[in-house]
Formats: sequence, C-alpha cells, structure tokens
Amino acid sequence: MTTERTLTAENVTLGYGDRTIVESLDLALPPGRVTTIVGANACGKSTLLKAMARLLSPSGGQVLLDGKAIHRMPTKQVARVLGLLPQSPIAPDGIAVSDLVSRGRHPHQGALSRWTSADDAAVARALEATDTAHLADRHVDELSGGQRQRVWIAMALAQETDVLLLDEPTTFLDISHQIDVLDLLTDLNRRRGTTVAMVLHDLNLAARYADHLVAMEGGRVVAAGDPAEVLTEEIVREVFGLDSRVVPDPLTGRPMVIPIGRHHTLIEPEPAQG
Ligand SMILES: Nc1ncnc2c1ncn2[C@@H]1O[C@H](COP(=O)(O)OP(=O)(O)OP(=O)(O)O)[C@@H](O)[C@H]1O
Ligand SMILES: [Mg+2]
Repeated sequence: MTTERTLTAENVTLGYGDRTIVESLDLALPPGRVTTIVGANACGKSTLLKAMARLLSPSGGQVLLDGKAIHRMPTKQVARVLGLLPQSPIAPDGIAVSDLVSRGRHPHQGALSRWTSADDAAVARALEATDTAHLADRHVDELSGGQRQRVWIAMALAQETDVLLLDEPTTFLDISHQIDVLDLLTDLNRRRGTTVAMVLHDLNLAARYADHLVAMEGGRVVAAGDPAEVLTEEIVREVFGLDSRVVPDPLTGRPMVIPIGRHHTLIEPEPAQG
C-alpha cells in the first residue's frame, strides 16, 4: 500500500547563526521501521529532526527524501509525504481542537482547497486514535498539557504521511497515555508501513519500541542499530555521563536501564566481571 520512502541525512552540518550544533552527521532512517533517538538535553536531537523535516537548512551536506534534496522540494510536496510533530508546537490563539487537527489535512487539498469526506474521515480517525474526540469543540489553550499533546499527535496523524517524525511525543503524558501513543505509532508502522522516527527521553521505552535506536552526544551519532547493541552501560555513560545497570526487560528482553545515582547502591555485591 505504502511506497517505501527513504529519508537520509548525508554529511549534514547544522547550526544557528555562527554556532555549529551538528557536524558532518550521517543518518539513514530504515524505511518502514521505527527509529528512536536518545541523547542528553541540548545534544542536537531537535536540531537534527528539524533538518530532516526541511525546517532547518543544513550549512553543509544535505537531507534526501527518496533520493532528492528535500530543501529543493516544494513545501506541500514534502508535507504530503513527511509529517513532523515539533517539541514545542504553538497553536494559533483561540483555535478549537477540531480546527487544529483539520490543519493536518492542508497538504492534501488541491488549489481549490476543497474539503472532502476523506478529510473528515481522516480527522475523525485521528481524534479517535488519540482519545481526543471528546475534546473536539474545546479550545486548545484550555486543555491540560497531556490533552494538548495528544491533540498535536492527532494533527500529525491526520496528515497521513508515509514518514512521521515526532520530537518527544510522550512529554506531558501519563504512563498509560504514553503507552497508548507508542502502541498507536507501532500500529501505524505495522499496518501502513509508516516510517516512524521519534525522540524519546525514556530509554526503556525507546529500547522497547525501536527497531533501530540512535544514540546522540554532542551533535554526533555515537551508536545506531539494534537496541540491544546500542543501549549498553558504556553508551549510557558516554551519552549521559551516568552510571547504570542494564538488564533485560523482564517482559520483552529488551535492554532496561537502571540508573544508579549517588544515593543508591547495589543491594547485592556486584557479580565478578569476566
Ligand atoms: N533556534 C535556536 N537558536 C539558537 N540556538 C538554538 C536554537 N535551537 C536550539 N539551539 C541550541 O542548539 C543546541 C541543541 O539544541 P536542540 O534543541 O537540538 O537539543 P535537544 O537535543 O533537542 O535537547 P532537549 O533534549 O533539551 O530537547 C542547544 O545548545 C540549543 O541551545
Ligand atoms: Mg529537543
């Protein structure tokens, strides 16, 4: 049903003004898979995602969508294929939930901007999937943080793109809504072949939901691949400067990071190494 899209950053250098944040970075999102990106605050995750979504032009290198330089493609053409949920999206003042989610359909409308029943259906599906249908008539600025986040996710879903980039989609969400959103993105990926890439701060969820895990530090990719190979105690120390134990998640066998911190020590002596 979905054509496999490729989205790759080739040797990109990114920054703001004179300040370079990301230098000569390569990243290929595996088509039709789920990629999660982890890394410390300010390491450049959002900067990278903005460049992958064409919102920030690289000062070196390029981002390729289906092999074509994305920064030379028209906005609407990109938006039909690729959606981005930014980290801190800003809603127009006083906008209602249903109107905001409907904006996700704009890229699909032709020159005459005719709204069709297919658009209605896509909006209804997105509201339903994010448990926000009951909020449809409310003003976005009157919602709780978690409700608002789900409305933004609904807008991104309504766009129905083959590639979906999400910058911390689970912020503000309680644990059950976090799982709902990650399950929903997994459904989209499995049913429609949507290529998903998202930044997550919860390492355990990042490992559990990823086919491909990318760890960033100081504007570089320090490790990328199978979560079990990427999420090790060494990488956690390198990326976050944090000592931890990494054990298999008892449910999934995926790596589970247990941070140590200064006030907690191991109850049992450490097993001998080697
Ligand atoms: N619009 C901007 N103008 C100038 N500097 C910026 C801008 N946006 C981000 N930066 C800087 O770029 C660096 C990387 O920021 P970025 O938002 O990419 O980090 P991040 O990895 O997403 O962090 P977080 O986990 O806190 O969201 C930071 O030092 C930040 O201050
Ligand atoms: Mg960020």
